[in-house]
Amino acid sequence: MISEPSDSLSGEATLPGDKSISHRALILGALAVGETRIDGLLEGGDVMATARALGEFGVEVARDGPGAWRVWGAGVGGFQEPARQLDLGNAGTAVRLLMGVAAQHPFTSFFSGDDSLGNRPMGRVAEPLRQMGARIEARSGCRLPLALTGSSELLPLSYTLPVASAQVKSAVLLAGLAAPGETAIVEPAPSRDHSERMLRHFGAELRVEDAAAGGRRIVLSGQPELSARALSIPADISSAAFALAAALIVPGSQLLLRNVGVNPFRGGLLDCVREMGGAVELQGAKEISGEPVADIAVSASKLHGIDVPAARVPSMIDEFPILAVLAACAEGPSRLAGVGELRHKESDRFAAILAGLSAAGVQVAAEGDDILITGMAGPPPGGGEIESCLDHRIAMAFLVLGMATARGMTIDDGAPIATSFPAFAELMNGLGGRIRHG
Ligand code: S3P
Repeated sequence: MISEPSDSLSGEATLPGDKSISHRALILGALAVGETRIDGLLEGGDVMATARALGEFGVEVARDGPGAWRVWGAGVGGFQEPARQLDLGNAGTAVRLLMGVAAQHPFTSFFSGDDSLGNRPMGRVAEPLRQMGARIEARSGCRLPLALTGSSELLPLSYTLPVASAQVKSAVLLAGLAAPGETAIVEPAPSRDHSERMLRHFGAELRVEDAAAGGRRIVLSGQPELSARALSIPADISSAAFALAAALIVPGSQLLLRNVGVNPFRGGLLDCVREMGGAVELQGAKEISGEPVADIAVSASKLHGIDVPAARVPSMIDEFPILAVLAACAEGPSRLAGVGELRHKESDRFAAILAGLSAAGVQVAAEGDDILITGMAGPPPGGGEIESCLDHRIAMAFLVLGMATARGMTIDDGAPIATSFPAFAELMNGLGGRIRHG
């Protein structure tokens, strides 16, 4: 795909549904008793992989219309043994959360995925699930394909996460639904709390306590009665981030992004943009289905460099590719501190950010787990070709950069964008962008 210098962007946009919340809505709907109605579901490849996998587990999932879905829950421990292997495509959240659910069941489930997912570490999820009573056999490095044999007698667990990961936390909480007594997780730094909010929405009992050094302890009471609930899913701030960034760097732009999820544990990019001097404003804040939501007004701004503290990483873990693009266009140097976890995403995003910015003519360097970017006080020359490495966010971040550069940017493969934002090019072009298939 090719992005060419754009006219100023203007108008209003409704971005696709939140990917994290969409996976959880389908999964918790499947674990509740009764019919859960969902609107605003993201219909990207990743979430559709979760829907298909739930079907393999014998759960009825149906689409009523765009974003409108129904799930007839089978209850905790009520799934059937899948007859086929579960192919989760590119979806890390799907495989990790569904491993937690599969652990509740005394049969073997087989998980696989694409080449990107096959390279991602699953040991971080396997370890606590084994401690609860699941058996897991996997390829070297605990990578997919993987077989998980669950148990109808899972043990509750008290577990300290070695890395701040909402996926691992959620897998343990989902398994903990089937265990008696309390399952507790201590997270070193708070990560997105969509699972906690949605578990409560479905009637689970869950409390959150402060833990040492700014961490949190989440305690779930096992074996709750989950009852079906209606759910509305807000727009994904991680998708909104691309439109927001484009508006900041394409001169003269002004956008209103409607109904975006503004969960505080996802808000790191907004904090960075404000610190960089970006004009962003939240309007009409409200709560929908237990999640905070607002419209975001953004206009083109003169940005300056930023030191992003390592403590902020979990609240913007998926936004570093697009933040790196903003830092490249800002005035002065930026440091993204403690971003080593980026090596374990859909691609090695640490390496992909370095390669992509260099190809666009930006001076960028690594220092341990930090990335250093020399801002150019305006867009870099561009003109480079980037490998997307099966990574939707790398592809979209550099297409956005191309919108502001004089020479545009080319991505070798735009197909991964469909995992989270199938209408990306169409939506950006509707606002004034010029993105096309090469
Ligand atoms: C997600 C958590 C994050 C994030 C991913 C979605 C989730 O992963 O990168 O895109 O929905 O829980 P980690 O929990 O591994 O940091």
